[in-house]
Amino acid sequence: MSSPRTIAITGASGLVGQALTEAFAADGVRVLRLVRHPVSKSKPDEVYWKPSAGEIDAEKLEGVDVVFNLAGKGIADDRWTPAVKKLIVDSRVNSTRLIAETVAGLTNRPRALVSASAIGFYGDRGSTPVDEDAAAGEGFLAEACQLWESANAPAWEAGVRVAQTRIGIVLSPKGGALAKMLPIFKLGAGGVLGSGEQVMSWIALPDLVRALRFVGDVEAMHGAINAVAPGAVTNREFTTTLGAKLHRPTVLPAPAFALRLAMGEMADPLLLEGARVTPQRLTAAGFNFETPELGPALDRVLA
Ligand SMILES: NC(=O)c1ccc[n+]([C@@H]2O[C@H](COP(=O)([O-])OP(=O)(O)OC[C@H]3O[C@@H](n4cnc5c(N)ncnc54)[C@H](OP(=O)(O)O)[C@@H]3O)[C@@H](O)[C@H]2O)c1
Repeated sequence: MSSPRTIAITGASGLVGQALTEAFAADGVRVLRLVRHPVSKSKPDEVYWKPSAGEIDAEKLEGVDVVFNLAGKGIADDRWTPAVKKLIVDSRVNSTRLIAETVAGLTNRPRALVSASAIGFYGDRGSTPVDEDAAAGEGFLAEACQLWESANAPAWEAGVRVAQTRIGIVLSPKGGALAKMLPIFKLGAGGVLGSGEQVMSWIALPDLVRALRFVGDVEAMHGAINAVAPGAVTNREFTTTLGAKLHRPTVLPAPAFALRLAMGEMADPLLLEGARVTPQRLTAAGFNFETPELGPALDRVLA
């Protein structure tokens, strides 16, 4: 286990990318950010790339210790039309393939490529716990995650250590699912979604940042790694806990049909289905979660 001196991040402007950048910078690690706009000389830590065109300034990545690949169009930003679904997949597969090929072609390769994936890989699993050995599930997200993970192949075929971190629902008031829920819950209009029995496998943003850094540092961390807290909960438990933290009632349920009407196809995989994902490999490797249970995790991120 050793800490990096220089790292590179794709998707650096995103929720996770920003938090990871700040954490490394606070420790004096140089962070190169891959950006999709022209780079000026006054910003030496920006590296130009354009995944949709297969363009990247590869030379600037020579000698980087670890690459974190977090890029991708937000999955809940727009209704899932065929064009949006294509962009969700392409924005991940093209960027991952480009960074994996680039890393493979460097003279001084990084010691690890830590790529994002998602627990959507597992599909809808009811309440049965699933660890990294579980097979892929069914549906659009599960298929997208498989394509996304496979796009790392050029790097691992070249002998680079590759980890696909299957990230759970990231808890932060700054973005993602919790940021969407907060205004509704604060109005006292939060409630159980559908049956409320679907399992939500979450991770607090500070623990995700620590987990990504751990995966980058620890030689044994390669292949699929679930980045979720141990304390997954049902949607009903999540709703009650969040309502209690905000001192608001949560008596207004959102029936499945209404969610489907409002959100279309994404309502089922994103809100009405779930999987009890376990962080088997992180835990076995000695990673300690600062907030393994939901209540303290919400206290931490909402503080
Ligand atoms: N947040 C969650 O709950 C969650 C859960 C599971 C998995 N994940 C995955 O973890 C990764 C990071 O999540 P996040 O919450 O930080 O995502 P995010 O806030 O949506 O940021 C993703 C970043 O990807 C880049 N991007 C956006 N559209 C793109 C496109 N069409 N082509 C290439 N790059 C594009 C952007 O960065 P630039 O503008 O800097 O290029 C954007 O800031 C994502 O791949 C996400 O799918 C997140």
